[in-house]
Amino acid sequence: MARKKIIAGNWKMNMTPSQAVALVNELKPLVENKEVDVVFCVPAIDLIPVIEAAKGSNIQIGAENMYFEEKGAYTGEISAEMLVDAGVKYVIIGHSERREYFAETDETVNKKVLQALKHKITPIICCGESLTQREQGITIDWIRQQIKIAFLQVTAEQAATTVIAYEPIWAIGTGKVATTEQAQEVCKAIRECIGEIYDAQTAAAIRIQYGGSVSAASAPELFAQEDIDGGLVGGASLKPDFGKIVNYK
Ligand code: 13P
Repeated sequence: MARKKIIAGNWKMNMTPSQAVALVNELKPLVENKEVDVVFCVPAIDLIPVIEAAKGSNIQIGAENMYFEEKGAYTGEISAEMLVDAGVKYVIIGHSERREYFAETDETVNKKVLQALKHKITPIICCGESLTQREQGITIDWIRQQIKIAFLQVTAEQAATTVIAYEPIWAIGTGKVATTEQAQEVCKAIRECIGEIYDAQTAAAIRIQYGGSVSAASAPELFAQEDIDGGLVGGASLKPDFGKIVNYK
């Protein structure tokens, strides 16, 4: 079964609302490609103007985070219901920067994944090892643990609709992209792990992205790997280069 590639930008904490609208207008003609899903994950304050600016284009919009509770006294947080009402289709969950700077854990990632799925938002679930872990040879064990906890109580039917982003922490924002062999090896292991938790059909359906210094130069080889179904792109998603990444073939 052919999986549709999904190429997503993660803008991180960049772009004011007016800058965001200008960037969408600039990138809109460059990211046209019916063969792939194109997603812009943008800061919460940019979501509504970006959704408006992207109307009529192939760009779908994602958030960079959300909270796992339904509503209430959680000052500063944004709920799944708010995202849905604004027209958001995807949400990044458990990015390594949120784990590092905002105390996210595998447990909070799992709660957020369940909440996103409950509201029919597609979670882009992030996992990845540090350089120390890679050097210790525990990459696959670590990633398998992250995946197993992230998917607790998620049904097979739900799991098949999710997206996993494998982002080695040492490759994020460093210009040090993982080799295609390293990226493929881990993405394959993630798919096997999903196969163990669920079944072969779910493993074949789930989409797994690579993220970490993806560029117009590295995208074609990465995205040609059997288990890599696209990318989660940071820095290069803020530039016209993103059009080249989306049209990597
Ligand atoms: P860079 O592409 O800037 O390395 O960022 C990757 C990333 O963290 C995407 O979520």
